[in-house]
Amino acid sequence: MKNKFYITTAIAYTNGPPHIGHALEFLQVDVLARYHRIMGDDTYFLTGTDEHGATVVKAAEKNGKDVKVFVDEMAEKFKELTRAYNVSNDDFIRTSDQVRHWPAARKIWNLIKDDLYKKNYQGLYCIGHEAFMKKSDLVDGVCPLHKTEPEKIEEENWFFKLTKYKKEVKKKIESGELKIIPETRKQEILNLIDDAEDVSFSRPSKDLKWGIPVPNDETQTMYVWADALTNYISALGYAEENPKFEKYWPADVHLVGKDILRFHAMIWPAMLLSAGLPLPKAIYVHGFITVDGEKMSKTVGNVVDPFEAVKKYSAEVVRYFLLREIPSGDDGDFSYKKLEERYNGDLANGLGNLVQRVATLIENNLDNELIWDKNNLDEIGKKTVEVWFSVTGHTYIRQFELHRSLDKIWEIISGANGYVDERKPWVEAKENPKKFLETMTVLVAMIHHISWLLQPFMPETADKIAKIFGADLSNKEITENYKFIVRKSEGLFPRLK
Ligand code: MSP
Repeated sequence: MKNKFYITTAIAYTNGPPHIGHALEFLQVDVLARYHRIMGDDTYFLTGTDEHGATVVKAAEKNGKDVKVFVDEMAEKFKELTRAYNVSNDDFIRTSDQVRHWPAARKIWNLIKDDLYKKNYQGLYCIGHEAFMKKSDLVDGVCPLHKTEPEKIEEENWFFKLTKYKKEVKKKIESGELKIIPETRKQEILNLIDDAEDVSFSRPSKDLKWGIPVPNDETQTMYVWADALTNYISALGYAEENPKFEKYWPADVHLVGKDILRFHAMIWPAMLLSAGLPLPKAIYVHGFITVDGEKMSKTVGNVVDPFEAVKKYSAEVVRYFLLREIPSGDDGDFSYKKLEERYNGDLANGLGNLVQRVATLIENNLDNELIWDKNNLDEIGKKTVEVWFSVTGHTYIRQFELHRSLDKIWEIISGANGYVDERKPWVEAKENPKKFLETMTVLVAMIHHISWLLQPFMPETADKIAKIFGADLSNKEITENYKFIVRKSEGLFPRLK
């Protein structure tokens, strides 16, 4: 029986085009999804867009566009982002989709109805967060994340009894039944959860029309988070009892940014408990990308356009840079300077050089062909291959430390380049053909291993390397007597001018 693996990204607000932070989140999930597919798991990768709420309406107005037209355009840009970065999502859900999404949001609403009550409420609403904030959350009267003063709101809302479920949710987080990775984020939530209050689950429709009307109460529109969180099950056809829901739910991983952890680790599990549905198994939390050390913001004008980055350097290069440079569970910095340094160092001089050197040596000295035979290795050669094959770094993928997995792969690349320098195969080819064959047998094995490991991170590069050597990446191990046939190729990563 195959395992199933259901993984999701957060769904982005369609209040503007995607930025590089969105690309990072797509890529992190993409690596996990590709890895699980390679492992043979029946994988389902969902992403989408969060299209309701006040922020979105405001952005459409600012752009002088009808909200529907505006969200259609923005959703299209996020779809384009998945294509530009070679992201392997299986599905894309939009919360404005009245056929796929709305029925599920309504169904959940009806199921949790006993835990909803109406009350008059006075609070401070941060539009950037799409959430009420406590006075104690503010710094100098402004939201510390969005740097804006929250709006004072007094209105009648539906409230959800989060307080009723917080103990149970806390227990599940503590026991690891609901895993939160990294550990620091788990502690953060455990510190917050005792103070959690009931949450507003609707806004008066006279103030906010753009959203899902509350079932049986046309005067209210569903709160954008209550609506958005449901995407994780609406996409599986929860409302119409699609077998996909039975098959894939609960999610194995919700991957989200640190700013929205509390919605995923408190409100969403509480909603599911109230509805009698199983909880997701894990929440992986990433940090924020800063740019040249500064917070990315429209006001500062330092927002990195993910489309420009791929146009300049290619999807494979930006994938590599983001996944290696930004520690998966932490904040990290983006700069084109660092990207170019990594390009020259890790890609051109590291991986590209290794592939080029070994391919050329086989081309020039073995007539393009190497039949892989263990018997061509002496004891040291055998041991070398064995040792390198045991280095995989893929355990780090399972721990959501994708950058460390790449560190390991690059250890192998440096090891292989070091081995070439040490053995000097260009001399061996002339003076000792037996030793030369042995060196190439080791190196081809290492390159096969490297490209196999690289697949989730740099799928096109892995394929290109396999093509250059005529290798078969469907097998992790090299089959004895496998015939590698080298084909000439352009350099993988030409040096930047
Ligand atoms: N719509 C909500 C999520 C609803 S999920 C049911 C939302 N949207 S968002 O567009 O603001 O953010 C989408 C994702 O991008 C979030 O996981 C968020 O943390 C992430 N990022 C936003 N800015 C980021 C960076 N600067 N760096 C990395 N990721 C960032 O929140």
